[in-house]
Amino acid sequence: MRRALELARQAWGRTHPNPMVGAVITEGGRIVAEGFHAKAGEPHAEVMALRALGRKPAADAVLHVTLEPCCTHGRTPPCVDAILAAGFRTVVVGARDPNPAHAGHGLDLLRARGVAVVEGVLGAECAELNLIFNHWIVRGAPLLALKVASTLDGKLTLPAGQGRAITGAAAQAYVHRLRRLYPAIAVSADTALADNPRLTARGDDGETCPVRFVLDRHFKTAGRAGLNLFQDAHRSRTIVVGLGSSAKKSDLAWYEAEGIKAWALVGDEASFLKVWAERCAQEKLTGVLIEAGPRLASAMLAAGSADYLYAFVAPRTGDPEAPSWHDGVALPVGGLQVSLVGSDALYQGSLG
Ligand SMILES: NC(=O)c1ccc[n+]([C@@H]2O[C@H](COP(=O)([O-])OP(=O)(O)OC[C@H]3O[C@@H](n4cnc5c(N)ncnc54)[C@H](OP(=O)(O)O)[C@@H]3O)[C@@H](O)[C@H]2O)c1
Repeated sequence: MRRALELARQAWGRTHPNPMVGAVITEGGRIVAEGFHAKAGEPHAEVMALRALGRKPAADAVLHVTLEPCCTHGRTPPCVDAILAAGFRTVVVGARDPNPAHAGHGLDLLRARGVAVVEGVLGAECAELNLIFNHWIVRGAPLLALKVASTLDGKLTLPAGQGRAITGAAAQAYVHRLRRLYPAIAVSADTALADNPRLTARGDDGETCPVRFVLDRHFKTAGRAGLNLFQDAHRSRTIVVGLGSSAKKSDLAWYEAEGIKAWALVGDEASFLKVWAERCAQEKLTGVLIEAGPRLASAMLAAGSADYLYAFVAPRTGDPEAPSWHDGVALPVGGLQVSLVGSDALYQGSLG
């Protein structure tokens, strides 16, 4: 199962709206074939492993798969049928598929045909791998994940003259890995204007660009042609999101002329985040990583708009004059995980 997880991660961030899944076939306790789901529309991990085997599995063959095999017709036929046709007598599964159409039905079908099914092997790790998919498939809404790089006293900026980077290189590399995982990323207009970020995922495997949202209720970024988000090679991936009631025709015309999409939402300041999330769902964007400054983070927490938290905390204090990122908000975090990333701590868990 550990190997199957490694295989699943080879498609890190590339399977949306589908989950990442890995599969391994063993015979006599030795791995004889491997597979993973590379991309939505392409064969599932179990089928890839069977193709790699290229023959009928031996009588003692065991299929190990990180996610419950599907039992419904989607873009590909049900994997349960392929498993039964191949003649497996034992299937080892990491996590159940929370998709209500599956949710254990695939395992029941296998058991009903006499297949021994072992469940929950590295279950927590297998479920965690598909945090975004699990949320999307159950709620039909994107996972809105808040990411902050904070000091010990909850500040997102350092005192004047002490630079901008709060966390170290390892935490920054981790954020780039998250940017690769999420199909979309968001910043506020104020942060776009203050920091001029690129919001691409950069690392050893080159540069990729998620959909990049600028949350800009009053379209104050119109005319700011110098922003990286508006002028780099990925600018067709930038979407400025504001309120239709605040949109001047000339501003919308400016974005269009620059080749930048603008969503003028129907709503008001208070409903803005909710309406934006609904539009993301319509566009089948399953998750958004929000790299919020202190005011946007506090507003999202107060409104209950964030589903998940990644708080990187550096071992230092910040700007005493700045607001904290959880200003005036009580913050219970569910399923908290704490880890060290280089010299910084990472607190992650669900919100609300
Ligand atoms: N360390 C970090 O993790 C991190 C991350 C990002 C930014 N920062 C720093 O934070 C600083 C910027 O801080 P900031 O407080 O100005 O920026 P911010 O918190 O990113 O954004 C403030 C903007 O958020 C919008 N906002 C507030 N409530 C909202 C709501 N309910 N719905 C939608 N939008 C809402 C407001 O936009 P309106 O104009 O519509 O009112 C406001 O102008 C920069 O120096 C940047 O470097 C740090």
